[in-house]
Amino acid sequence: MLHLALESRLQAAVAAVLPGVSVDTVRVRPASDSKFGDYQSDALMSLARARKCNPRQLATDVVARLEIADLCEPVEIAGPGFLNFRLRPGSIEAVLLSALRGEHLFFSSTPRGRTRTVVIDYSSPNVAKPMHVGHIRSTILGESLARVLRLLGHRVVTDNHIGDWGTQFGMLLLGWKTLLDAAALDQDPIAELERIYKAVNASCREHPDTLEQARAELVRLQAGDSENLTIWREMIRLSQVQFDAVYGRLGVRFDHTLGESFYNPWLGDVVEQLMARGIARESEGAIAVFSDGTVPPKEDPFLISRDGEWVANPALIRKSDGAYNYATTDLATLDYRIKTWAPDEIVYVTDGRQQLHFRQLFQAFHRWQPDAAGRVRLIHAWFGSILGEDGKPFKTRSGETVKLSDLLDEAEERALRVVVEKRPELDAAVQREIARKIGLGAVKYQDLLPNRQSDYVFSWDKMLALTGNTAAYVQYQCTRAGKVLRDSGVLPGSWVTGPALILEAPAEGALARHLLSFGLTLEAVADECRPNLLCNYLYELAGLFSRFYDSCPVLKAEEPARSTRLALCDLTGRVLRQGLECLGIEAPETM
Ligand code: ARG
Repeated sequence: MLHLALESRLQAAVAAVLPGVSVDTVRVRPASDSKFGDYQSDALMSLARARKCNPRQLATDVVARLEIADLCEPVEIAGPGFLNFRLRPGSIEAVLLSALRGEHLFFSSTPRGRTRTVVIDYSSPNVAKPMHVGHIRSTILGESLARVLRLLGHRVVTDNHIGDWGTQFGMLLLGWKTLLDAAALDQDPIAELERIYKAVNASCREHPDTLEQARAELVRLQAGDSENLTIWREMIRLSQVQFDAVYGRLGVRFDHTLGESFYNPWLGDVVEQLMARGIARESEGAIAVFSDGTVPPKEDPFLISRDGEWVANPALIRKSDGAYNYATTDLATLDYRIKTWAPDEIVYVTDGRQQLHFRQLFQAFHRWQPDAAGRVRLIHAWFGSILGEDGKPFKTRSGETVKLSDLLDEAEERALRVVVEKRPELDAAVQREIARKIGLGAVKYQDLLPNRQSDYVFSWDKMLALTGNTAAYVQYQCTRAGKVLRDSGVLPGSWVTGPALILEAPAEGALARHLLSFGLTLEAVADECRPNLLCNYLYELAGLFSRFYDSCPVLKAEEPARSTRLALCDLTGRVLRQGLECLGIEAPETM
């Protein structure tokens, strides 16, 4: 890719001027404003600062050594030592041609540094509960991060850490034994599990006896009672069927589904080791990790400020009744993942309310296994909530949490109404297939578009609109690009041997330049765990394509404009399609 070529030539020039200096930090980035050119680098200024030399002088020396005339206009030194690069049209055309030949699609599928192994922990719903709207963000964010990292050539291991263990099973087991309606279980297993859970839960609040019985069931399960284990396994199986149905619709698949229970055999050992090292200690019958006082209180996840004083905020790892906690399982999980996959990074995609949990987890792990912790980057990629139009958490009209499967049904139905109205001539099955892609695409895109840390307002009207920053808009521009190509009768890539491409109209140049930054965008998504950067990139690309398409006739143009424009349609269509695929969104042929 051009920016990579610029970068390596710049690095070579820096190395020639400053022999022995590490050039890893010498990077080329897209220009912040197109009036400064296409790319820029501010790397020389920090190098100059570190070596206490004059940045402008360094820039002048580096530029004198820079062999770049085949790619760029003469490089401009701006301000205290910025370098501005303006691509020559010929070099842009050459990149378009190599993309047309299928050599790349504006990104490199071999990482420029080392290939990283990245474990992604996402979706992770809880057994015996319906997947609700809250799970969609984790599922969709995690899936798109996995897709982008894989596309860039990294080794990705996805793991669905389902909640299949914990105190809720005491109540579920009691409900199963005393309240289960077999016919209802057959009809809709999750609804029935939810019903018995709620019933027992309500009764526990009034009758201490029920609570005692539920506890006893839990203890029996934990002790390995075979009847309880059988029922528990059946509840997991029934839930997994429901999860799989949702994942199938969303196009999500995991390499591993190692639920919390998988780690049970190691929990006792984790607690012992933490105690032996003085990381955890007993407190009121329970065992917990406390602050070790090595970080300033403000950054210490094991301290909390109360009435202006720092007080202990321990993480429980064993309750007084001997049961283990969420944190204990996560410590064992972390240990297992590092030993099993030797990852460079582990990314946890959960809701922002778990921030404290992960800060405590990461710190406790550092204290427990400093060497292993030093080799892995632990990232909590958290996200905000989904709100209703009233600004409160998104609920159904009757005030219940929205089930994911109902939400997806509604998305497809609403999209179908639009498709039937706009394309009455199409076959019903075709209409349904288009509606499926538009409906699911709308839900996913709306979810990925906001900065993940912001809350967003769920809006059917906005997400299904054909204008504005929506999936439907991007999908629509993608179909337009595909249609021109089909109408031209040209076989993909066949004009490559024809006349050279010549970018003339401003709309052509702007579109071509934007295509070039696809790879940089993907890298930024991977580095920052932010698929919203890709949504914005695609929206901008779709807009530039639309402007180009409205101002530059394609099929009626003379050569070489005709070939150039067809090439732009082809490449834009491919990038839009690939980009949507990274977001888990399918692009219909027509809509
Ligand atoms: N099951 C949890 C929940 O629904 C999410 C688990 C996230 N992953 C983890 N390793 N803690 O909130």
